Amino acid sequence: MTSAPIAYSTDGRTFHFSTDIKSGHEIGSYVRLETEAGSTFLGQVLDAEIKGIGTGSMSVSGIGEIRAITDGEAILDGKPTPFGSATLSDVDPKVVHAYFARLRGSKAGLDIGRMKRVGDNETATLQAAGFGRHTLVCGQSGSGKTYSLGVVLERLLMETDLRIAVLDPNSDYVNLNEFGGADQMGLDAAEQEKLSERYAEASRRVSIHGTRENQQPLQTRFGRLPIEQKALVLDLDPLRDAREYNVLGRIVREMPNTEYSLSDVRQKAASMFDDGAQNLAIRIDNLNVEDMSIWAPNDAPAMLDLIPEDWRGIVLDLGSLPSANERSLMAASAVHFFWQTRHRRRPTLLVIDEAHNVCPQTPTDRFQAMAIEDLAAIAGEGRKFGLYLLLVTQRPQKLHVNVLSQCENILLMRMNSKADIDHLASVFSHVPEPMIRQASSFGLGEGLAAGRISADPMLFKTGTRFSVEGGSDIPAAWAEQRKK
Ligand SMILES: Nc1ncnc2c1ncn2[C@@H]1O[C@H](COP(=O)(O)OP(=O)(O)OP(=O)(O)O)[C@@H](O)[C@H]1O
Ligand SMILES: [Mg+2]
Repeated sequence: MTSAPIAYSTDGRTFHFSTDIKSGHEIGSYVRLETEAGSTFLGQVLDAEIKGIGTGSMSVSGIGEIRAITDGEAILDGKPTPFGSATLSDVDPKVVHAYFARLRGSKAGLDIGRMKRVGDNETATLQAAGFGRHTLVCGQSGSGKTYSLGVVLERLLMETDLRIAVLDPNSDYVNLNEFGGADQMGLDAAEQEKLSERYAEASRRVSIHGTRENQQPLQTRFGRLPIEQKALVLDLDPLRDAREYNVLGRIVREMPNTEYSLSDVRQKAASMFDDGAQNLAIRIDNLNVEDMSIWAPNDAPAMLDLIPEDWRGIVLDLGSLPSANERSLMAASAVHFFWQTRHRRRPTLLVIDEAHNVCPQTPTDRFQAMAIEDLAAIAGEGRKFGLYLLLVTQRPQKLHVNVLSQCENILLMRMNSKADIDHLASVFSHVPEPMIRQASSFGLGEGLAAGRISADPMLFKTGTRFSVEGGSDIPAAWAEQRKK
């Protein structure tokens, strides 16, 4: 015996349903609800469970939310009303697209791949305007975070005017300004050419900064750092190291401009006669910070001198820096820079990959402590100034809670750890928990988009990157079967 699909709603917002086990109405899918009174609604299934196991008459029961009133094709004005009984059937994907397009209005959409559980091959479109809130991208190693984020960034470059700054510890985005061919998209030569031209135009003002050949410099000048950062580089505390801190302050004040190096400070300190100055010179020697690759030589320009006013994208290839200290300092300096210049009010997306290393719950070095302070400020107040965060991590529980709790959007890729899923479900309590729990069954490149970036929580499979992937995975040739 099969049970007839039936649904009811007591509030006109949510609905309960029971259907035959073969109906295929899975979590995340859309349904057409037709009430006895003749109204048709679009609903989304948010939870479903099998009932009656072992009784010989299994069925699926679940709940969902009513999204819109439809006439079976278009979306109509008005508010859905409660109903005592409605039939439940498959929905035409066109209705889902019409509903998304209506909510997007005049704002840009980002086509990132294919929707799952809606039709067979339907385009998954994110709401670009949603990136005006903070976003978390998370998933376990190898789940496709970097690849998928690459797709999102490329589409943001092509479809919007949002500035994008990427802190890239694994050198994954160093080719963001290079069209890669998008071979798997099945385009003909003319379409490829057109896409290539469009991408070249969109990524023209994206610069890549690092220490590798062909990269723009990733260097700053010690004299330009604010005094707190200078002290941080030298691990100086104004109370604990009162004398040395005081000498540093005096030297800085006496410099004619900001174009001096750490070596200039050391020389000056060494030439002074008090103990504090001598200790400061010794400290600079002992910390081994004078020769770090992040300092621009006195006769060479610093990174900021080379970035034009109308920059569109900046990738900081932190992975090209030789030491963890330099990576940490550069990341903290960049975050500090964006917070300090917030009054310029230029909408900017600050992308931080491996964000748990930049702003962990418990800092392990002095640079992280500074970055946490600035990122907490950006997370709390950045939006007012047009500063939006996009944080990428495998370890959401390690991310500082003041930063994580301000993320409204989530792009969740495969995640096996139950503890991490539980944590996300409590932080993203506005996202239906059963949808978050789907993450343990995602395949490569599959994910959930929820928050302002998607009208409804949406399951997707990422499409093709336009630009060349950076540091890709090591091929598993070592595991090939030996020829006998
Ligand atoms: N949608 C996709 N289509 C094709 N290949 C993909 C897709 N998503 C990911 N890949 C490939 O899978 C591999 C792992 O993906 P990726 O590097 O994005 O994972 P990750 O989640 O960033 O991992 P990690 O946390 O270790 O950095 C890469 O080689 C990438 O090219
Ligand atoms: Mg990655």
